[in-house]
Amino acid sequence: MGKVLSADQISAYERDGFLVLPDFVSTAACAALRERATTILRDFDPDAHRSVFTTNEQTRHADAEFMASASTIHCFFEEEAFDDDGSLKQSKELSINKIGHALHDLDPIFEEFSYSPELAAVAADIGLADALALQSMYICKQPRIGGEVGCHQDATFLYTDPITVTGFWFALEDATIENGCLWAEPGGHRTSLRKKFVRRGDDAATFDIVDESPLPTPPQDLVPLEVTAGTLVVLHGLLPHWSDVNRSDRSRHAYSLHCISESADYPLWNWLQRTPDLPLRRLDGGSRLVNA
Ligand code: FE2
Repeated sequence: MGKVLSADQISAYERDGFLVLPDFVSTAACAALRERATTILRDFDPDAHRSVFTTNEQTRHADAEFMASASTIHCFFEEEAFDDDGSLKQSKELSINKIGHALHDLDPIFEEFSYSPELAAVAADIGLADALALQSMYICKQPRIGGEVGCHQDATFLYTDPITVTGFWFALEDATIENGCLWAEPGGHRTSLRKKFVRRGDDAATFDIVDESPLPTPPQDLVPLEVTAGTLVVLHGLLPHWSDVNRSDRSRHAYSLHCISESADYPLWNWLQRTPDLPLRRLDGGSRLVNA
């Protein structure tokens, strides 16, 4: 038994590659993160930045703004945000796909939430006692235009040797099949890594195939993880997962934090490289470290 998780929960995580922890986050904390994200969206100038987050894995590419977001708080538009004349179809606040990727180190509200003793204890219970907080995203999955996130393994995008990346995904609103909840392949973390997303200089990254075996086909090979607001879903870095478009009238806000083990090697070819003035920190509140 761990400090926070029961022996059954730890063995379920080892068996399935994911773990659903309802009521991990209080209603007040969910509301505080949603409110803070609303402020960030309100302050964002849509005319200054037009980067779109292309969610389909087959066409995903990285541009200079995406790469620089390793050390900033950047808003990425939904792919379907603009109409043919380039104007927004919905309000600015209802057009952003996600905010990333250093919220946890640059925004005091997200920082306090991310570096919590409870979360560090969950990480330790599943074998990540030396977790470094690598990447954070506030995911909006907007009503009507929320994009699909193609089936993928997080280790494709955040690679370490050995593979240690672990996702902590917090539902800030109810996530249902209608508004594009997560889907996952139980036990799929016991399969190989299929692709690596490799940096090509400062303004591009592309995929290298590691293993040709296909990922599971959504939705039939996956199970839906419908969860209520306040639920934490822990995701193993090799677990294939997917989320569908959101055509409903309800958003599906979530906050996601990805951690790696401090003792694993984090290659310089990963897309996400922090600037020297913003070193990674341990999830358990240890001091700032040099760039991993
Ligand atoms: Fe993911």
